[in-house]
Amino acid sequence: MPGVVTDAWAQQVIEEHHELRAKVARLREFLDGPRPTAGNPGAHSWAAELSSQLSTLHDELFRHFRLEDESDMVEDISSAHPRAAAEINRIVDEHPRMLEEARELVGLALAYSAAEAASELPLRRRVGALLDWLEKHESEETDLIQRVEYRDTGAAD
Ligand SMILES: [Fe+2]
Repeated sequence: MPGVVTDAWAQQVIEEHHELRAKVARLREFLDGPRPTAGNPGAHSWAAELSSQLSTLHDELFRHFRLEDESDMVEDISSAHPRAAAEINRIVDEHPRMLEEARELVGLALAYSAAEAASELPLRRRVGALLDWLEKHESEETDLIQRVEYRDTGAAD
């Protein structure tokens, strides 16, 4: 009997998804805010702040994904709900790829802070794309967990 997606684990994952969504919103605000062009005063601080926020996000994602990956979520959901197996595998496979992208963006933000890039636009677009990806990913996970959880606990009781 799979237990992991019906107990405190599911609550913790979903709670962390709420927290991550709030952090993504704050990072989006920062991205949309004023940013000096490369080589001008303030550009270094802007890029250093961005790399710092991305690094924090990377750390939080690393811990969050570990919580999910080490929970036997894949095995439990797949064995209890074979039809969800492909979906859960596809979602979990995104974890290392998102971490890799976050690490790359930390490096790009640092390079920008050293005035090694002419425009901040590609960097902002790529960070925005990572945030879109992350939001989609986490909402798919939440849906999957809730779907499986509701089916397990049932509406019958
Ligand atoms: Fe997640």
